[in-house]
Amino acid sequence: MKRILSAIMLISVLALASCGMESKSDIDKKVDELLSKMTLHEKVGQMNQLSGGAWLVDQAAKGEVGSILNCVDPAEINAVQKAAVEQSRLGIPILVSRDVIHGFRTIFPIPIGQAATFDPAIVEKGAHIAAVEATASGVRWTFSPMLDIARDPRWGRVAEGSGEDPYLDALMGVAMVKGYQGDDLSDPTSMAACIKHFVGYGAAEGGRDYNTTMISERSLRNTYFPAFKAAAEAGAATLMTSFNEIDGIPSTGNKWLLKDILRDEWGWDGMVVTDWNSAGEMIAHGFSRDLKHTAEQAINAGVDMDMMSYGFIQYVEELVKEGKVSEKEIDRAVRNILKLKFELGLFEHPYVDETASAKVDYAPEHLEAAKQCAIESAVLIKNNGVLPLAGAKTILVTGPLADAPHEQMGTWAFDGQKEHTLTPLAALRQEYDVIWEPGLDYSRDKDRSDFAKVRIAASRADAAVVFVGEEAILSGEAHSLSKLNLQGAQSELIAEVAKSGKPVVVVVIAGRPLTIERDLANCDAMLYSFHPGTMGGPALADLIKGKAVPSGKLPMTFLRDAGQAPFYYNHNNSGRPCNGTETLLDDIPMAAGQTSLGCTSYYLDTGYGPLFPFGYGLSYTSFEYGKPVVENAELGRDDVLRVSFDLKNTGKYEGTEVAQLYVQDKVGSVVRPVRELKRFERVNLAPGESRKVTFELPVAELAFWNFDMEYVVEPGDFRLWVAGDSASGTPIDFVVK
Ligand code: BGC
Repeated sequence: MKRILSAIMLISVLALASCGMESKSDIDKKVDELLSKMTLHEKVGQMNQLSGGAWLVDQAAKGEVGSILNCVDPAEINAVQKAAVEQSRLGIPILVSRDVIHGFRTIFPIPIGQAATFDPAIVEKGAHIAAVEATASGVRWTFSPMLDIARDPRWGRVAEGSGEDPYLDALMGVAMVKGYQGDDLSDPTSMAACIKHFVGYGAAEGGRDYNTTMISERSLRNTYFPAFKAAAEAGAATLMTSFNEIDGIPSTGNKWLLKDILRDEWGWDGMVVTDWNSAGEMIAHGFSRDLKHTAEQAINAGVDMDMMSYGFIQYVEELVKEGKVSEKEIDRAVRNILKLKFELGLFEHPYVDETASAKVDYAPEHLEAAKQCAIESAVLIKNNGVLPLAGAKTILVTGPLADAPHEQMGTWAFDGQKEHTLTPLAALRQEYDVIWEPGLDYSRDKDRSDFAKVRIAASRADAAVVFVGEEAILSGEAHSLSKLNLQGAQSELIAEVAKSGKPVVVVVIAGRPLTIERDLANCDAMLYSFHPGTMGGPALADLIKGKAVPSGKLPMTFLRDAGQAPFYYNHNNSGRPCNGTETLLDDIPMAAGQTSLGCTSYYLDTGYGPLFPFGYGLSYTSFEYGKPVVENAELGRDDVLRVSFDLKNTGKYEGTEVAQLYVQDKVGSVVRPVRELKRFERVNLAPGESRKVTFELPVAELAFWNFDMEYVVEPGDFRLWVAGDSASGTPIDFVVK
């Protein structure tokens, strides 16, 4: 037996050596050895991350910078690296980072659009392509994925995440981590991922970026932690703290989050970086007295690297001398940083081949994958039968987003070049005789002087396609909105085109769910495309023409009015849930006496329901769900729930339906959500084809953080729904004993 074990160990060691991977303990030894040679000054230098390129050469030579961000010029990167490797006393290489959020050169749809694909495989592929392109320019660390649950579309950063559902968020986050990092971080095309922003940043009150949050510990554990835990378990190499405070404690100074939860409870051993000056911002929060105090609090809370507050580099040596920060904490931080540098193979291969990027940027297979992702991310939210425009010959193309190469890339597309973007106008010209009349110059344009021209042009066309939405700058960081209607005169443009009597297709290209109820009334069909990236044009043209069939589903609830926010499908019930008999403003008689009897939780003016529920999305074909059959409606806690149903394509097109399984725990020791997404599957069916689909759900996945703050499955009554969105399906009961 011993011999067999030694043989297995030898084979593993050889396997690791042959594929270039070093074992954990080899790396630990190297880290310890290097750490033992370092002065305190050099250690602090490693904890310092600065924005910039060539002008950081002197600091790199002195060993005073461990990582740089925002430099993507290979020659500059090599210059800084050379200073670190060849001039600094210990030759420790620099870790080069960048916000590669949805592609580097080839821009994929913004993350909320990628979530709309409900297709982790295409998301993983996109992240891998981003890594191949970014590493070719010298970037080995990206600040992605953003895992912040976002339930308020006023918050501009909804663009950067996967929306409102913890399960979808976790799957997309894990897919991105795998895509960026691959199986082996030391592969020169692998890039370390950074799960951010830990935690609760998306719960900013009122949707105002950087705002305070109110999240209970239970809610953190049930809703905000799961995606981080899943991505940490999938091996995410780094984590970023968030700007917000929770219960009075800024995340960057929160020991409970960064040590007790992350290290002790989850056993995660990656590296923690602050957000941009989030340590320094603890002064404005009123949590730290001055910059020196921020460094003390952040390091003692568990931060390893400081992004751009300059507090660590200035004060840590003093803090150690004064005994306010122990050298043990410093060694912990530096160990995590060095470990990552060894894992990435930076000591062996610090330099980037300055000719590499030209060979991989915008490679045909990258563009093809970006197009596929953009196709899958578009959500058809209305169609009275005009789409696809298969028979039309001449079409009017209008609207400010039809030919806006920069805008369609969306937020955080620093390195995507608009010259490489293919717009809907360009792509539709390949398919139709196009009459092009923009109508408005940009999304906020209020000048209607060209509207008459648009109407005349519409009368000459077989159909009109109106591209409206948001410029890239209207969503993303620091770009919150209190009103969510189309900006400028875009709604008026749609109404004007509708007057022509021609079929009107509206395509919304935006960074968030907008309130488009009034625009729906003025069109025959609407496709919702979150900023779709480099290949958005060809993707949308294929969908309009019918060469591709929409399959995206909404990863966030769509509101009738911004005043409904925050609004999400997986909410807890009130004691007065809606029942569909609510009185609206117009139903109230004059001089009505006060009453609350029989009233429920809703708005007098917008009612209760959303415009479209989470998970919603149409196709050119139609799908019929057969009655789900639960194999075992009485389950023990170690069992697996199995539910099967027939899904039939009852329409004329081949199409893909995202079938969804939702569950409700009917009674809990604490109030449970009305529904929770537990499984989904993309099912492709030919016209007339029917397939049996089976969802398997281990009962263990019904666990939640209960009254005693324990993660348990509470026995009792449950129900499930199988449906094409979160508001459909007939409930089926089951019991956990
Ligand atoms: C953002 C982060 C980003 C960082 C570096 C911050 O302002 O909140 O998400 O990674 O800047 O660019």
